[in-house]
Amino acid sequence: PASPNRPLYEFHTQTAELYHHLLVNTAAGQGALKYLLDRGMTRELIDQFQLGFAPAVADQEVLVNFAKEQGLEYDTLRSTGLFRLDQDGQLHDRFVDRVMYPIKNERGQVIAFSGRLLQAKGNEQAPKYLNSPETPIFNKRFVLFNLDEAKKAARQTGQLTLMEGFMDVISAYGAGLKTGIASMGTSFTSEQIQIIQRLTSQLVICYDGDSAGQNAIRRALQLLRSTAPDLSLQVVQMPAGLDPDEYVQANGGAAFVRYYEQHQVDPVAFELAYLRQGLNLNNQSELLSYLEAALQVIAQLQQPMAQGVYLNQLASEFNLDLGTLQAQLQQIKPVVT
Ligand code: UTP
Ligand code: MN
Ligand code: MN
Ligand code: MN
Ligand code: MN
Repeated sequence: PASPNRPLYEFHTQTAELYHHLLVNTAAGQGALKYLLDRGMTRELIDQFQLGFAPAVADQEVLVNFAKEQGLEYDTLRSTGLFRLDQDGQLHDRFVDRVMYPIKNERGQVIAFSGRLLQAKGNEQAPKYLNSPETPIFNKRFVLFNLDEAKKAARQTGQLTLMEGFMDVISAYGAGLKTGIASMGTSFTSEQIQIIQRLTSQLVICYDGDSAGQNAIRRALQLLRSTAPDLSLQVVQMPAGLDPDEYVQANGGAAFVRYYEQHQVDPVAFELAYLRQGLNLNNQSELLSYLEAALQVIAQLQQPMAQGVYLNQLASEFNLDLGTLQAQLQQIKPVVT
């Protein structure tokens, strides 16, 4: 029996083809195509990810017109999420004058879109990225961009790579790192973690190298520890001010992959590096507050052996007595026997 959602999947597939065609073959798409090429996208990547363009209204409402040709029912069209309703209940294209990123489910079916403004920055009225609303086939909490491709790559490499943005995943893919996935603008969810856990035993977090990215890493680590305690985690801290896409554009794909492979640290090492940022550890009181915070992090570790490794590191790095550090740690969290 045909699923009631089948027309929604079909309409999304056709819409992705239409937007892609408009981007690569028509005059209306020339500005958007130039925008993508200027920011380092190749034709191969544009085709691989089926990037597209939703034209400005003055060029006619392409999706409304296309839908009319298809003769689809009003209610079906409404539930695609690809239209907005005016006061009279008339449908209009939701995505106007935006570069379009098709979003696929784990099986590779297009289920939603995100559209990016061509200008550098968005504002409250016009967000930089506009996503499809929730629909019968698109539940954001469960969706990870590029998961259909990344899970195949994960079978070879044994890991998935969590990134912030579509462009990061796409540029990393172009550089040969095909395990990239991204949550959908909303924060990272426990539903997404469950999906990741089903597909791999190792997750590498590679968020943007700004303070928003660092804070997002800490939030993600917390949720991962509580939702999937058995998942092995690594963190790649990008250089200040660069996201993975910007790193590829600035230094090339090969340099990015090298950076990615050589800068993976475990979550504790990431936390400790985070805590000591901007501190002058030659200053006694700053060193003491760093050590206290570091012991708090180490106290949360489950395995005594892991605790021992980090205590030893602290002791040797700052020339401290290991016994004293151990005693201090006990005060934070009594040893369970
Ligand atoms: P970023 O601001 O880091 O964007 O947000 P980006 O990925 O680097 O985008 P470019 O390079 O400027 O094109 C990270 C992600 O947050 C979501 C998008 O998924 C984006 O990729 N986001 C951001 C939104 O959903 N809406 C926004 O207005 C901004
Ligand atoms: Mn193509
Ligand atoms: Mn960011
Ligand atoms: Mn970014
Ligand atoms: Mn970016």
